[in-house]
Amino acid sequence: MATPTTTSPTAGDKGTFVREMFARIAPRYDAANRVLTAGMDERWRRRAIALLAPPAGGAIVDLCCGTGDVVFHLLRTDPSLAVTGVDFCAPMLDGARARAPREARGSATFVEGDVMALPFADNSFDGATMGFSLRNVVDIDQVLREVLRVLKPGARFVNLDVSKAPNKLWKRTFDLYFYRVVPWIGGIVGGSKQAYSYLPSSLTNHPNAEALREKFARAGFADAGFERIMGGTIAAHYGTKPGARA
Ligand SMILES: C[S@@+](CC[C@H](N)C(=O)[O-])C[C@H]1O[C@@H](n2cnc3c(N)ncnc32)[C@H](O)[C@@H]1O
Repeated sequence: MATPTTTSPTAGDKGTFVREMFARIAPRYDAANRVLTAGMDERWRRRAIALLAPPAGGAIVDLCCGTGDVVFHLLRTDPSLAVTGVDFCAPMLDGARARAPREARGSATFVEGDVMALPFADNSFDGATMGFSLRNVVDIDQVLREVLRVLKPGARFVNLDVSKAPNKLWKRTFDLYFYRVVPWIGGIVGGSKQAYSYLPSSLTNHPNAEALREKFARAGFADAGFERIMGGTIAAHYGTKPGARA
């Protein structure tokens, strides 16, 4: 079976490693994404937004927004939303800001910040999203605490990411693709084989879908759950901040 590469950083320097890696691949990130997912990520992102069911006119924060894919999807779904994307990698945010005049059908704001310490007041948002990023953070529990802090009572969080398929055949097929093919294609289209070797290896130590749901519940999310997509190689986790919507 395919084995992970050894390009993972140690826990201590993971934040810096991840930021510098995304800075390197930022200019070709969107093109590489479309090729690596064969365009299917568009459908997964739409599903995540359906699970969020954002209230009309609501303020939504997209964590680790990168070049803005989830932000622009949210605004295509409902232009009445006010969406704030936050990311700690300036070149990824430059990409998002460059796309905004063409793709933002409504209010899109991009803020530089670390999702481990969100630069927003308590109870600020009517919903939160995160796409393909939770594997990259230093401390998942800290991020979940931060999401709960900035959400208003009754608001939902949806996290879309790759996951560990429960079916052995699916898992083996996906591992082969993720650990062997992704670095190769990523090297050609994305411009950095090293970066696209780290991305799959970030799944190796990531909790499986059940364990991640448990983290959501332990952090304090009500109705913590998840939906498997693509045989469980992708998962959308969700939860609601306790309390009634104002
Ligand atoms: C794989 S990209 C995903 C981008 C986007 N969400 C998407 O769906 O295409 C991961 C992003 O997470 C950002 N990131 C990782 N750790 C972060 C942190 N602690 N705080 C803010 N952004 C972070 C990276 O800079 C990068 O832009």
